[in-house]
Amino acid sequence: MTGNEPVPAADAGIREDVPTSARSYGWALGGKDNYEVDRQAMLMALQTFPESVDIARENRRFLYRAVRYLARDVGIRQFIDMGCGLPTDNNVHQVAQAFAPDASVVYVDIDPVVLAHGRALLADNERTAVIQADLRDPEAVLAHPQTRRLIDFDRPVAVLFLSVVHHLLDDDDPRRVLRTIIDRAVPGSYLALSQVVSDDPDKGAELSEMILNAGVPWQTRTPDQLTAFLDGLEPVDPGVVELSAWRPDPDQPELAPVDEPLQPYLGASKINRRVYQCGGVLRRP
Ligand SMILES: C[S@@+](CC[C@H](N)C(=O)[O-])C[C@H]1O[C@@H](n2cnc3c(N)ncnc32)[C@H](O)[C@@H]1O
Repeated sequence: MTGNEPVPAADAGIREDVPTSARSYGWALGGKDNYEVDRQAMLMALQTFPESVDIARENRRFLYRAVRYLARDVGIRQFIDMGCGLPTDNNVHQVAQAFAPDASVVYVDIDPVVLAHGRALLADNERTAVIQADLRDPEAVLAHPQTRRLIDFDRPVAVLFLSVVHHLLDDDDPRRVLRTIIDRAVPGSYLALSQVVSDDPDKGAELSEMILNAGVPWQTRTPDQLTAFLDGLEPVDPGVVELSAWRPDPDQPELAPVDEPLQPYLGASKINRRVYQCGGVLRRP
């Protein structure tokens, strides 16, 4: 299995009539595991928010820099990747294990397509596992046998919520979701997160409405609404910022090229910046 085979639509739980975040986002990263409905949803969003492809790709670049920082500079050896998405280049365990071969990663996602492809490509060594769980139920993630096998909570852990926080509605109690694991982890553990934000609440609400109407849970926030969830944690320099400003590295690995229909949108965020993605890495003191 290479991960590029057509998705087995007959598999239980896989919907071809509703777009999913994992598949639409994966398309913007150059992935092939998506349906017409996912591509149409992305193209429709691009009519109003042409910066969306850049936002997705900037997040994936941030993922590389954040995981590298945690594994190489801080010495983190255990990662829980909440809402891990479809496998692509430089998945969390590949970045972490490049700098720390003994690093363990538990990948968590709710989308059955992620599970179908992830089991082969993300769980490719004994130090990684992919579990199907709802990240809004962090207790279930903590109790899962694979989490218990791979993560030693007496040692520091990094919990990742990358390009995921906008999938948490206020009714989901995002603070509880983000903080349950990190607040129980030992001091010296880390939280890394990102979410699509807007400085203009009206623009943010417009984006939320569009994506909610497509059937994907979504809540755009302002940067202040995001950082309100993070009290008591110590942001690593430069803090919670637009992702391209988080320790930029012009020499980091390139992402896969995007499909032809998305190519005209590359670079659109230089002109349109009504929505963007904000995030950072924070230490539990
Ligand atoms: C935009 S992708 C981000 C993927 C990856 N974290 C990254 O940064 O490249 C969001 C992922 O979160 C997952 N997700 C959304 N809501 C979820 C939930 N309630 N439980 C588990 N996973 C969820 C989606 O299935 C999708 O794979």
